[in-house]
Amino acid sequence: MNVVFLAPNYPAEMPHYVRGLATVGARVWGVGDGPLGSLRPDVRQLLDDYLQVPRLLDEDDVIARVHAWLRGRSVDRIETQWEPTVLLAARLREHLGVMGMLPGTVIGFRDKAVMKERVAAAGLRVPHAFRATTTAQARAAAERIGFPLIVKPIAGAGSADTYRVDDAPELERVLALTRHVEEVSVEEFVDGLEFTYDTICVDGQPVFENVAQYLPRPLEARTVESISPIIATVRDLTPPHIQRGIQLGRQVLKALGMGTGFTHMEWYLKASGEVVFGEIGCRPGGAHLADQMNFTCDTDVFREWARAVCWSDFDGRTERLYNCAIVFKRAKGQGAITRIEGLDAFRQRHGRWICWENLLPVGAKRRNWKMTLVSDGFIIVRHPNWGDALAIANDAANNVHLIAG
Ligand SMILES: Nc1ncnc2c1ncn2[C@@H]1O[C@H](COP(=O)(O)OP(=O)(O)O)[C@@H](O)[C@H]1O
Ligand SMILES: [Mg+2]
Repeated sequence: MNVVFLAPNYPAEMPHYVRGLATVGARVWGVGDGPLGSLRPDVRQLLDDYLQVPRLLDEDDVIARVHAWLRGRSVDRIETQWEPTVLLAARLREHLGVMGMLPGTVIGFRDKAVMKERVAAAGLRVPHAFRATTTAQARAAAERIGFPLIVKPIAGAGSADTYRVDDAPELERVLALTRHVEEVSVEEFVDGLEFTYDTICVDGQPVFENVAQYLPRPLEARTVESISPIIATVRDLTPPHIQRGIQLGRQVLKALGMGTGFTHMEWYLKASGEVVFGEIGCRPGGAHLADQMNFTCDTDVFREWARAVCWSDFDGRTERLYNCAIVFKRAKGQGAITRIEGLDAFRQRHGRWICWENLLPVGAKRRNWKMTLVSDGFIIVRHPNWGDALAIANDAANNVHLIAG
């Protein structure tokens, strides 16, 4: 089993997937844009070969280089877990005749307009939306949709350049702010709660399913710096509103022709109980969501993803033991972290439920919280009861403080 794995070193969780592939018996050949020496030592050791390319996102160039590099060797899988390279992986499969999802399918997970069209064509509920490349088109769309609405890039990520708009003057302000965005989607604002539906699939069938709730919704978390955003996996998937989200997710996978691998979907739950599709990728959620799944089930989704991809098999635990919450922290003040307050007391209150503390240490420079959800670090906690898990997470959000300056 020879597996080409794109971007083995970045983002931060990729080494776990490399380890997973090696653990289930695959030979792993990495392709990345850093020199071999820049790879983490454990990753370097797990790779059987490595190709450094000058620009990983220059798809035609990477395809030509990988083609030349592989000449005479047989490849069984071409995989990646990073959103910007999922289409490249599909193009490489097509080019080299390797099994797995092809570009015509992967585009449905990558291009938000194609995605929505395919999901809506299957009769599933998506937000009413129009695409706009000019301000006149955006105004006309707003007229038809009404306020409140959302303006966001067609090719967006991480809630960048995404705005809620409540009236006409605000629309003008937002259109000025998004002038640099080539094409926007003007959408009905779907009010309600926001969840994920995550899977590992084998031939389109989910063999592992996860649901997590965003607290607050990502757009708000990215707009207000003083918030410590929380994402909590939901242990109990049986309540009807959660089941409706899962059913929506399964139908979306069918509509998009999912193959084998990870998926990460976002969905909205309205006060009326209606569930609405948000978006989906054919890769795992970022910002440690995979780690949260592991803490939820005491399993190893990194390894089991690899088993699914290599052997169409799954041997992980799916029984949900905990609700697992991650709390992202943002320091008060600018510059470097000077002290951390409230952490010892928090540990004393909840020690046994703390899974992982990964806050920036004193002396480290603050990160840009708009650019990375992880912000200045995080604390992961878990508890069998939903209410207790949230109470502990809120305790970390409200009473642990990083101070910079
Ligand atoms: N139609 C909508 N109604 C309400 N909120 C939305 C809508 N579209 C986007 N949002 C908010 O903006 C966030 C980012 O939008 P999303 O479509 O998930 O793009 P991305 O995560 O790729 O930036 C969502 O998580 C949600 O909070
Ligand atoms: Mg999103």
